[in-house]
Amino acid sequence: MMAAIRPATSDDAGPICDIHNQGIADRLATLETVLRTPDGTRAWLAERRPRYPVIVADLDGVVVGWASLNQFNPRAAYDRVADFSVYVARDRRGRGIGAQLLDSLVSRARTIGFHKMVLAALARNEAGIALYVRAGFTHVGIYREHGQLDGRWVDVVIMEKLL
Ligand SMILES: CC(C)(COP(=O)(O)OP(=O)(O)OC[C@H]1O[C@@H](n2cnc3c(N)ncnc32)[C@H](O)[C@@H]1OP(=O)(O)O)[C@@H](O)C(=O)NCCC(=O)NCCS
Repeated sequence: MMAAIRPATSDDAGPICDIHNQGIADRLATLETVLRTPDGTRAWLAERRPRYPVIVADLDGVVVGWASLNQFNPRAAYDRVADFSVYVARDRRGRGIGAQLLDSLVSRARTIGFHKMVLAALARNEAGIALYVRAGFTHVGIYREHGQLDGRWVDVVIMEKLL
């Protein structure tokens, strides 16, 4: 299934918010537990600078996934390191859309001039880790019992890819 990958616009705030909230509800994608709102997502999109783009996977006019480059650390020493997010709608997962989004994000990160992409993922997020390994990310390590989700400790995997 080939989606068109394009920059997000403010009109995409609704579906981006819904897809993000599915990931939050799954308790696999992120340690966040507070659901997003369409207005909050619209404001988040409006604040983005060209260095930290948000892209969407558009399947015949329907947004089925999104991804973003995020600031890793505000210290100047880390200016060329990017963190990122990738989320695919629950009913569209496992069909190559996450891989398409991540490939596009890697190529955009190179064009922007980033030297490295990094991520922190829940160690039990098998789909996410498979996606990252497929895109050439390698394991840096695992923080054991690093965060708390619904009152339970979770392990967090750190991965990186030199661009
Ligand atoms: C992680 C996520 C983005 C992957 O997107 P996707 O469109 O489902 O993934 P793809 O179909 O492109 O698959 C990419 C690779 O991951 C593997 N994969 C996908 N789902 C998997 C699963 N449930 N278990 C194991 N591997 C899986 C695929 O086999 C594929 O590798 P291959 O090309 O060698 O076969 C998607 O599952 C998702 O949105 N999850 C919720 C949000 C999230 O966890 N984001 C990551 C935060 S760290």
